[in-house]
Amino acid sequence: MPDTTTDTLARPLRDLRVSVTDRCNFRCRYCMPREVFGHGYDFLPRAGILSFEEITRIARVFVSLGVEKIRLTGGEPLLRRDIARLVAQLAAIPGLRDLTLTTNGSLLAKNARLLRQAGLRRITVSLDSLDDATFRAMNDADFPVADVLAGLDAALDAGFAPIKINMVVRRGVNEDGIPAMVRRFGGGGFILRFIEYMDVGNTNGWRMSDVVPAAEIRERIAEPLTRLPPSYDGETALRYRTGDGGEIGIIASVTHPFCRGCTRARLAADGQLYTCLFAGTGHDLRTLVRETADDSMLLESIRSIWATRSDRYSERRTAATVRQPKAEMSLLGG
Ligand code: GTP
Ligand code: 5AD
Ligand code: SF4
Ligand code: SF4
Repeated sequence: MPDTTTDTLARPLRDLRVSVTDRCNFRCRYCMPREVFGHGYDFLPRAGILSFEEITRIARVFVSLGVEKIRLTGGEPLLRRDIARLVAQLAAIPGLRDLTLTTNGSLLAKNARLLRQAGLRRITVSLDSLDDATFRAMNDADFPVADVLAGLDAALDAGFAPIKINMVVRRGVNEDGIPAMVRRFGGGGFILRFIEYMDVGNTNGWRMSDVVPAAEIRERIAEPLTRLPPSYDGETALRYRTGDGGEIGIIASVTHPFCRGCTRARLAADGQLYTCLFAGTGHDLRTLVRETADDSMLLESIRSIWATRSDRYSERRTAATVRQPKAEMSLLGG
């Protein structure tokens, strides 16, 4: 029987998000602005990144502490060479109920079938606009939307359904595209989620005025929505049923924080463990995993990190917290 390790706010440890690389082939302005993440940016050296064996060993310990779901993220996780091999290793962990991955979709056409065969159960694709010019501007890599749509088709063919689609909404940039997204993805086969733009990291120049609040997103959806109950405790999204039977979610970390039910730990690509998306520092698991062969030491270390956790950043966000030092999302994973 897995443990039920709880933190200081009685929240159990249930989800592990693993960033497998801090690199990405996109330069979304809200995540990796080009003027910061350009030539000369100090990405992690290869030796600093956890190997698949190290990730799997750590993941196994997390599962024995009560983790039921693992999500692979990045950066862009499909840039990590041979990622399907990691998926297969994780899929074989007894007791893991859900294994999923968040990708920008650019390399999905090539990888979808392999990932499915390796044991990936679900997939989430980030897609901020269906309008090609807006999409190219938002990814700031001139990447065409048609290639992500081809990736979605490949994922459907490979048996991933429903596919979650994440759209980060930014004031004055893509909110006009909300109705088109609802028409395309709001009717079944997909779960479309609108995400309030967040003050993650220190490089995106976040301002409250750039956020389109959930209430306004709902108005812009412009069709009747029925509120659904959460599908699991601590779910990030407010869920709605659309008129034609589809499902839409709104992830409102700014206007409706969900820290109370937050059961998520984040393992960054360099092996630092973060207990909050907005944390400034992590806890070094890489040294531990490299210097000891004893899993019980890893287990006790993770248990005590979780037991002293008190994070609830989004519930406490103020103008001052927005400016405090935080890890970048591309390093610690969304
Ligand atoms: P499901 O497992 O399918 O419910 O997905 P998810 O909502 O946990 O994960 P996903 O990777 O699709 O994340 C969607 C958005 O929610 C992203 O913008 C994440 O950064 C954000 N998000 C996920 N977890 C947290 C969290 O613990 N806190 C905050 N503030 N945002 C989060
Ligand atoms: N605010 C909200 N969502 C963000 N994401 C990346 N940066 C931000 C931000 N500043 C999203 C990505 C991806 C998910 C993991 O997080 O678009 O869908
Ligand atoms: Fe890459 Fe995702 Fe960040 Fe965009 S949001 S730069 S696709 S990691
Ligand atoms: Fe969890 Fe931190 Fe997000 Fe709150 S802000 S839901 S504590 S990760």
